[in-house]
Amino acid sequence: MAAKHILVVDQGTTSTRSIVFDGHAHRVAMAQTEFAQHYPRPGWVEHDPEDIWRDTLATAREALAKSGVAARDIAAIGITNQRETAVVWDRATGDPIHRAIVWQDRRGAGRCAELRSDGAEELVRARTGLLLDPYFSATKIAWILDEVAGARARAERGELAFGTIDSFLLWRLTGGAVHATDVTNASRTLLYDIHRQCWDAELCRLLRVPMAMLPQVHDNAHVYGTTLPDLLGAAIPVAGIAGDQQAALFGQACFAAGSAKSTYGTGCFLLLNTGETPIASANRLLTTPAYRQDGRMTYALEGSIFIAGAAVKWLRDGIGVITHASQTDDLATRVPDNHGVYMVPAFVGLGAPHWDAEARGAIYGLTLGAGAAHLARAALEAVAFQTMDLADAMAADGGGRPATLRVDGGMAANDWLCGFLADMVDTPVERPAELETTARGAAFHAGLATGVWPSLDHLAGLWSRERCFEPTMPGDDRARLAEGWHDAVRRTLSSPG
Ligand code: G3P
Repeated sequence: MAAKHILVVDQGTTSTRSIVFDGHAHRVAMAQTEFAQHYPRPGWVEHDPEDIWRDTLATAREALAKSGVAARDIAAIGITNQRETAVVWDRATGDPIHRAIVWQDRRGAGRCAELRSDGAEELVRARTGLLLDPYFSATKIAWILDEVAGARARAERGELAFGTIDSFLLWRLTGGAVHATDVTNASRTLLYDIHRQCWDAELCRLLRVPMAMLPQVHDNAHVYGTTLPDLLGAAIPVAGIAGDQQAALFGQACFAAGSAKSTYGTGCFLLLNTGETPIASANRLLTTPAYRQDGRMTYALEGSIFIAGAAVKWLRDGIGVITHASQTDDLATRVPDNHGVYMVPAFVGLGAPHWDAEARGAIYGLTLGAGAAHLARAALEAVAFQTMDLADAMAADGGGRPATLRVDGGMAANDWLCGFLADMVDTPVERPAELETTARGAAFHAGLATGVWPSLDHLAGLWSRERCFEPTMPGDDRARLAEGWHDAVRRTLSSPG
């Protein structure tokens, strides 16, 4: 019988996990491990690529062992990953020359400001669908090339390779045989023209990234290469790659133009499928590839919020208000309202639609009556308020309002949050039976490339809903809360508008 199982590596910002799916896209086994975050200076965030590689292998082996599926019976591997995070490594040894600079890292802010004042943003926007923000990979790559002795010259000679995490893992899994990525990851670098679908020489010059270090770019469903047999016990094709947010859109079966999903992980990312037409945003959203099949691109409008679950993590690890993330659900419902407390989680600046790299987190409205429950509630409410702002910006951009919003990621397990989200976005919120939609999306791509599944229609039939949260809040209450939130944001921006 043909192999039907798919192994997915989901390499996120704070954890690495591996999941085995069966031919019905049901989860069979999973292994997960958190890894160290490095904060060398305020606003800087780094990962050790060796930690990521070690955890990838360990979790993949553990998930396989738990699943009882032999490696030779795995049809394909799918990779999905935290996007934008930049790794530069030596092609001869495979060794990174610096720690990975993470998407949340703001060290490129000065360079982006310079380019903006030189009037470069319009060109960047038109070609990449992005804005000049340190969130994206290019200024991170240039920083490594400038700061590591001799690196720039070596990169120009073709001795160094750049990749997002997917690309680095693919390189390692194939023993250095393949240096490639997919369109969704390539498009987050500031160097990839999403219309012509190729690396852009002019942008590479502008952002000072030698083209010799860039990976080849393929469709999401594509046989990229084969793993070294010794790593996992068999030579397995790596047949699907997608950045985690686009993978979640795919795993949520948002294949039709007008369908949308919102993922609540470290950050929150709302993506609206806009079909084969890229919509240029007038409201500082991103235009981004959703997926490419047989060379045909489907685009999305994206709203990127940098902090969602990370605010809850901060309540736990930063100030010790809670001991477990799941307590926020209980705490939030213990108080009748937010008591006028608003948290603007600009811990690493603000993403869409403000793109303010210099803003920093703030809590407003504290009185002696405010307690831990209000802080927890404010952290959750902020997630919903930000999603509301993104949905409003998408509607204003002509993307329309989705009929429903499909949610996923760890925080989507929180019933109170889903209900509040439905109220604030004023749209029914659908929670799928399978909350691991990011990994599922990567499995879908890998399974399409290897014949495990025949078509998008077939995949749409595999999606099912666990629960739908309908909006119930009166319009006046929504307006009052939105006003309080917008007032708090205005006070937080580095140059208040
Ligand atoms: O763009 C950053 C994003 O890909 C990170 O996702 O799930 O690690 O918050 P996550």
